[in-house]
Amino acid sequence: MNIGILISGRGSNMVALVDAVKSGEIPASEVAVVISDKADAAGLEKAKARGVETLIIQRERKIGTLVDTRVSARKTREEHDAEIIGELKKRGVELVCLAGYMRLLSPLFIQAFPNRIINIHPSLLPAYPGLDVHERVLAAGEKFSGCTVHFVDENLDSGDIILQREVEVKEGDTPETLSARIFEQEHKLYVDAVKQLISD
Ligand code: GRF
Repeated sequence: MNIGILISGRGSNMVALVDAVKSGEIPASEVAVVISDKADAAGLEKAKARGVETLIIQRERKIGTLVDTRVSARKTREEHDAEIIGELKKRGVELVCLAGYMRLLSPLFIQAFPNRIINIHPSLLPAYPGLDVHERVLAAGEKFSGCTVHFVDENLDSGDIILQREVEVKEGDTPETLSARIFEQEHKLYVDAVKQLISD
């Protein structure tokens, strides 16, 4: 299975997947490319350090070496997605894993990889889609939170659920402490989900 991973930031879930592929825990697979829409994503260096090809494909157009951030200088969502799809297809990618990729995919992208795009989210979906999850979970006084790996559709954090794991909310938890415990589970859950998809 040829895997492509999309990131926008830290890339800890990407690292978990790359390491699991390299160790053979995720069998018969290769991470063909890690693509970031942000030039300063910390995950890029981590992917390079693991010998994985990286690409930066920004929504903003470049003028010479400068990135032009004027709205009119941005690619449309479809143009941006088409560029990413092209690079994934060129490398024979069969499974696209979103790992902290902070953009909604266009229908064009979804249709290019039907049932082959998955995402990880730090809540028990369908509860708490979107941002600031841990803050909202704590404010609501939830006793449990967790993480979800799901197929990606055109909507935010929706699509069929592949695997979920519960994490207990503890007395005195802050968004940071809860997030740290959920991250540990995210890394395992994402690897388990990819293993399950491959064996299916
Ligand atoms: C994770 O919490 C993931 O569930 C969410 O974005 C965060 C990405 O973190 N979609 P990282 O870049 O994998 O460290």
